[in-house]
Amino acid sequence: MKIGILTSGGDCPGLNAVIRGIVLKGTTTYDLEFVGIRDGWRGVVEGDFMPLTRHEVKGLSKVGGTILGTSRTNPYEGERGGAENIAKTLYGHKIDGIVAIGGEGTLAAADRLAKDGIKVLGVPKTIDNDLRATDYSFGFDTAVNIATDAMDRLRTTGDSHQRCMVAEVMGRHVGWIALHAGMAAGAHVICIPEVPMSIDEITELVTRAHDRGRAPLVVVSEGFTLTGMEEAYSDKGLDAFNRPRLGGIGDLLAPEIERITGIETRATILGHIQRGGSPSAFDRVLATRLGLHAADAIVDGAWGQMVAMQGTDIVRVPFADALGELNTVPRYRYDEAAALFG
Ligand code: F6P
Repeated sequence: MKIGILTSGGDCPGLNAVIRGIVLKGTTTYDLEFVGIRDGWRGVVEGDFMPLTRHEVKGLSKVGGTILGTSRTNPYEGERGGAENIAKTLYGHKIDGIVAIGGEGTLAAADRLAKDGIKVLGVPKTIDNDLRATDYSFGFDTAVNIATDAMDRLRTTGDSHQRCMVAEVMGRHVGWIALHAGMAAGAHVICIPEVPMSIDEITELVTRAHDRGRAPLVVVSEGFTLTGMEEAYSDKGLDAFNRPRLGGIGDLLAPEIERITGIETRATILGHIQRGGSPSAFDRVLATRLGLHAADAIVDGAWGQMVAMQGTDIVRVPFADALGELNTVPRYRYDEAAALFG
């Protein structure tokens, strides 16, 4: 059996480890043959493939990014898109099924293709940890480690100058990275999309930390909207994918904090640094295990499903379980962190 593997959506540390896991188990335990699909669904639609043998995946578990490339192409768009055309392309290249490694958009497309008769298996990916049906997604732990390290560094420079430091982290719709990195670094305020906060609530916490002799550290998710400042934020417009433009809430927050508290304040936007470089050991293991189990699922013919982490086990779930509502930060988890604000 010949299987195509693709990575789609934003890149994420651990993608290469998944690819390696699938190919190693698929070729040694089973007699599967693999082909790499370039740049996500674009490669499927345009028939752009590359060799994918043991040789190509050598040493890949520690390598960031994706050797296959990625894009945000929708497989149902364009002249050569749609399930019928894709089925013809796959047939022409003797490809029996696809493993799609991606986030919500990728899995939604995979679900639709599966319903239209294409053999697709999913592997969930997101540094934001916003997918349901999997307790953790690979890439999240790496992003949290990078953000925590950055905040530890912000604290020493903040302490030296007695400044308030604002760190903006990724998290388009959910605040998992901010919550975990903020807790790990001992932030005095954590602002996440799930919990509305006004500038007065934030500055009160900043002033309290400052009065205790601390250099206040504020961590904010890129998707956070400050209560009362929605208008200033909505001016940012839409991005190329019709999503509200994100990033920059830290730059909006810092001058407001400084103006209200009188404490000199600096903002740092961590951005794509959180997605680059080597995956953490935890993410390498998780991604590799997902890859190994994906190879088993191919042989079992478990199409239309995705492999996922539940507890410490890797299980199979229908695509639909991961789609729809996002995995948001529950209030009790935020309150645990807030108990440490002081
Ligand atoms: O979903 C992962 C993520 O890194 C988000 O945290 C962020 O909002 C988005 O992708 C950035 O996307 P892009 O790489 O297209 O700028």
